[in-house]
Amino acid sequence: MAQASEFLLSPQPRARWMRFDTAQLLKRFFFCERALLVTEAAWIPTVAPLEIKIELARFIWQSSETAHALRERVFELRFPSRLLEEEGADHALIELFSGVKDSPSVPAFLLGVGKVLLPALRDAYHAYLEASDAIADGPTHRFLGLALSEKAEQIQAFEQWAESALATSPDLRDGALEWAQAVASRLANVGGVGVGPSPSSAATGAVAGAKPFAVPRRPARDTRFWPCRFYWPDVVDPAYPYGEGMQLQLRSAISHVNEVWAIEAGGVILNAFADILPWEWIHNSARWTYDESRHCRMGYERLMAWRIDPAEVPLGTYIYESASSEDPIYLLGMLYFFETKNIRYKPARAQLFHSYGDALSEHDMDFDWADETMHAGFGKRWLKELLAVRGQDPAAYDHIRERCEKLVSDFLGTATVEEVTEIKRIAGALVAKAAHRP
Ligand SMILES: [Fe+2]
Ligand SMILES: [Fe+2]
Repeated sequence: MAQASEFLLSPQPRARWMRFDTAQLLKRFFFCERALLVTEAAWIPTVAPLEIKIELARFIWQSSETAHALRERVFELRFPSRLLEEEGADHALIELFSGVKDSPSVPAFLLGVGKVLLPALRDAYHAYLEASDAIADGPTHRFLGLALSEKAEQIQAFEQWAESALATSPDLRDGALEWAQAVASRLANVGGVGVGPSPSSAATGAVAGAKPFAVPRRPARDTRFWPCRFYWPDVVDPAYPYGEGMQLQLRSAISHVNEVWAIEAGGVILNAFADILPWEWIHNSARWTYDESRHCRMGYERLMAWRIDPAEVPLGTYIYESASSEDPIYLLGMLYFFETKNIRYKPARAQLFHSYGDALSEHDMDFDWADETMHAGFGKRWLKELLAVRGQDPAAYDHIRERCEKLVSDFLGTATVEEVTEIKRIAGALVAKAAHRP
């Protein structure tokens, strides 16, 4: 007969992880989400399909919200803040999440994230929710349950994207599959994400087949649209009217869908300054990038609701290209420049759309205006902080804005006569077709 214990003891699965163990795991998840979203942001200009750019921006935002909640939770658990600043024993794991940025091709990137990194996170969250205590760790359960369902959605999307990317570029198939395999075996070597102790902290170097990441000078464009640099005649010809009535409705939707440049700029700068600026930068710029993707989608959905063929919709590159070969501070400056330049027109345009009875354009413009007000604040704050980090005068943020204006006007100066003639023809055809729709 077993001897009665001096104390009250019972098998306690609830007590599997103590407070500090929990914080260690949540810290690991934070760094994984952080590295994953930075990698995804970096790839936005390189992937061509508009749907992927838009959805990647949403997934980045989801990851940033999860990472933010994880970070806050780790602090709540009284984990030393100086330890949260470093990956510690999870170094090799996080290095792999960041290393997927160096994917050799678009399908390789989609497979590496969709078949390896995301499923590993999904499984780790699932295991965590199963094994952790819903009483003591209830606050984590709420947001991690949401993160788990988002991971399932993200995996499904990445799988579809990878499939269609491989179908359009069959020559990249073998390399992409090899890359995904290399990422998976590296993940296994470093112990996976999981909920176990961190097995390895040794730096392991680049994954086999890696290609150093580079920001493209020209962003990739969805072939369903009419490709161009300057997406409406008034961009290159000040005499061309912005228009009113139906022309204004179209112009505004074209502007919105062309905010694709802002999604791309958001992704580039999020990645460029991720290791220079504090966490709050990533959190803000993920939201910023997501907002721009919603503006882009607003325009796309309006055009589709009016049954306009994407092949007749000009999708330009000039704002991105004006700054993409410069210091990335100028892409941040471009966002700030364009939002502060255009924001004053928005309430009046929403009002005009209201007078036309075009509730959808009014609705989109009004929500857009609220986002842009917030973005103007982001732009000013982070330009100043970036200048300060670089040892420059934070008050000089307006010089960045001025230089952006100059970069754009120089780039506009490269417009050829053919480009101007073509965009006038495309715009004229779009307006005429809309006016004569059945
Ligand atoms: Fe916007
Ligand atoms: Fe904006």
